[in-house]
Amino acid sequence: MRHLINITDLTVEEINQLIDVADDIYAHPENYYEKCKNKILATLFFEPSTRTRLSFESAMLGLGGSVLGFSSAASSSASKGESVSDTIRMIECYADIVAMRHPKEGAPIVGAQKAIIPLINAGDGGHFHPTQTLTDLTTIRRKKGRLNNLVIGLCGDLKFGRTVHSLIEAMLRYENIEFVLISPEELQVPEYVKEAMNEAGVKWREVTSLEDAMPELDILYMTRIQKERFFNEEDYIRLKDSYILNLEKLENAKKDLSILHPLPRVNEISVEVDDDPRANYFFQALCGRHVRMALILFLLGIK
Ligand code: CP
Repeated sequence: MRHLINITDLTVEEINQLIDVADDIYAHPENYYEKCKNKILATLFFEPSTRTRLSFESAMLGLGGSVLGFSSAASSSASKGESVSDTIRMIECYADIVAMRHPKEGAPIVGAQKAIIPLINAGDGGHFHPTQTLTDLTTIRRKKGRLNNLVIGLCGDLKFGRTVHSLIEAMLRYENIEFVLISPEELQVPEYVKEAMNEAGVKWREVTSLEDAMPELDILYMTRIQKERFFNEEDYIRLKDSYILNLEKLENAKKDLSILHPLPRVNEISVEVDDDPRANYFFQALCGRHVRMALILFLLGIK
């Protein structure tokens, strides 16, 4: 029995296999319609979500299974003081696999400690978001045809953006990856991420100008400034418009650049970019459904 708390819980081989299965699901969805018949997925979302929760539910329904759960802490007994551990022990009576999002870093580890069904971290605070990373890797491989030999620009809130931390951890294990970290000084990646990059021996640098970095990028990963993680609103207001990608800023970009964003977007990508063939963030949301289907099958041990 396996859980997925951090992307490093999966080997590179397992990740590549998951993407292979996701590609097969994309090509032949009919082969998977009944794979999870009589299986139940619980989605326990203590924090808001559109894509992650709905793509998990859509994934399980696409496999012929069923779903149950809640979409906010307020509508669960957490509002009466129930612990994460107790909630997970209850859910085991009702479901075969659980996807959980929680505002507190480490909550999925606590939940998994006594769990007897697979638990998937669907995002814990500013920490990790491994299934977004599987989504990102699937999108990159589909669009670029590879997961090595890439210059990846990560732009925006690199301090609180959990998708950035998970993506860097994952890409450290592929060959010839270079990171350009584009953010205001206050929102640079945490020290532990820098240490991980140094230990892995990858090339990385921190810059503040998106325009200067643009010409060398193969991937541009835009992120929203994470309002809900700021301690005061003044800082958020000062930083929220630090980067707004528009067509003018893309003039010096590679013709085969791939623009990703985990979404939701606030205003860091102008809507005029949506029609540019390099904009892949809505396709990315579709990739998330396929790879979450593959992950559910993997964790349930279904071929
Ligand atoms: N990308 C992502 O996690 O989106 P949601 O918050 O809508 O799930």
